Amino acid sequence: MSQYQAVKGTRDIFPEEATQWKYVEEIVHTLASLYGFSEIRTPVFEYTELFQRGIGLTTDIVGKEMFSFQPDPKGRSLTLRPEMTAGVMRAALQKNLFSSAPVHKLYYIGELFRKERPQAGRQRQFSQFGAELIGASSPAAVSEVITLMMHVFESLGLKGLKLRINTLGDTQDRARYREALQAYFAPFHEILDDASKERLEKNPLRILDSKNPAVQELVDGAPRLYDYLNDSSLQDFEKVLFYLSERNITYDIDHRLVRGLDYYCHTAFEVTSSELGAQDAIGGGGRYDGLARELGSSADVPASGFAVGMERLLITMEKQGLFAALNHPGPLVYVVVQQQDLTDHAHQIAWRLRKAGISTEIDLAARSMKAQMREANRIRSSHALFIGTEEYTTGNYTLKNLATSLQTTLSLEAVLQILHKPAARELLDV
Ligand code: HAM
Repeated sequence: MSQYQAVKGTRDIFPEEATQWKYVEEIVHTLASLYGFSEIRTPVFEYTELFQRGIGLTTDIVGKEMFSFQPDPKGRSLTLRPEMTAGVMRAALQKNLFSSAPVHKLYYIGELFRKERPQAGRQRQFSQFGAELIGASSPAAVSEVITLMMHVFESLGLKGLKLRINTLGDTQDRARYREALQAYFAPFHEILDDASKERLEKNPLRILDSKNPAVQELVDGAPRLYDYLNDSSLQDFEKVLFYLSERNITYDIDHRLVRGLDYYCHTAFEVTSSELGAQDAIGGGGRYDGLARELGSSADVPASGFAVGMERLLITMEKQGLFAALNHPGPLVYVVVQQQDLTDHAHQIAWRLRKAGISTEIDLAARSMKAQMREANRIRSSHALFIGTEEYTTGNYTLKNLATSLQTTLSLEAVLQILHKPAARELLDV
């Protein structure tokens, strides 16, 4: 055993689980392109200011959870990305994407880093897949990202997920609401905890998110943002809900949903899974029209997007038995060496099989024939190809189907041909 352990809040993904990841990733790639999204890969670290400006100084992510470092004493502080949206918008603006077309649809799968207290479903290094639709403000745009996210869940066979949705209105709506919230909470200053007191000054909307029961009780009686929306914000939200209903996407309106990042406006949403315990958010997102300007854009660039936590998605799928049919595929053929002096010849045969596109395994530890057969079964190889003196001299090899135990002797060319064609294997009973 090594004296080193994986760092707290990180984990290793071994081959069987990697097969599950690949399965999910393939569905993400397929559906993203079905909806016209193209993949973007951005750096794992960015200048710290990008996240401070983008996500907001008063958020938990920026306030306490960033892994920041300074590569040299005079250098600018860098941060391991805690989320993807700010980096994707930075990349789009830097490349001046909008000079070629007004709307860009980008998706990603990548690693993120947040210095949170690790627990089930909460890690310090985790992964998300997500999509950002940049350059459009219509209700159709945000509906499209929600629809893509729900389509991925449906294709994976997930059941019982809950979509909660809210609208945060526009900047003026929120300014009026902020004042109303500050006026409402002010007389209860004694009841508010320190974090809420701080939020009351800087970002009162975040109080709605408090997990403190005493504060939650106050929140129950607080004014609702919904009542401060102007007509156009209301119509925008209703249209989003209309599109979702048209697509049979069920949702609950949750007037308290504010999300933990400051860039949102209008529609915001979150999906939870009852399979997850305390960390039950499997994904979330919304519209973020102000982010581009926050990052220095001289033009308005409305946008919306979502991100789904891969680890939480995989935990939910595992609990719902959705990986039961997923097998780590064994090789098609295991080359079994009957005598050690034929090892070089066996390796040459294995190489020819692999060059012909046939997945092949061969012993590398000079094990006995019995041990090789045990290994072939352990790794679920479907066939064994025996290399003995007779095979070596005649050039005809014995191929055995390990499921049926039927075997045939064939030239190497014939072996190559039939291993390529499942129908021929059946015909020859191998
Ligand atoms: P978020 O809600 O911070 O949104 O994260 C999205 C998802 O990432 C969460 O619902 C959760 O499943 C997963 N997640 C977050 N933190 C952790 C963690 N420490 N360990 C494991 N999983 C975690 C965003 O990141 C926004 N960028 C989403 C977005 C995209 N908004 C617009 N576009």
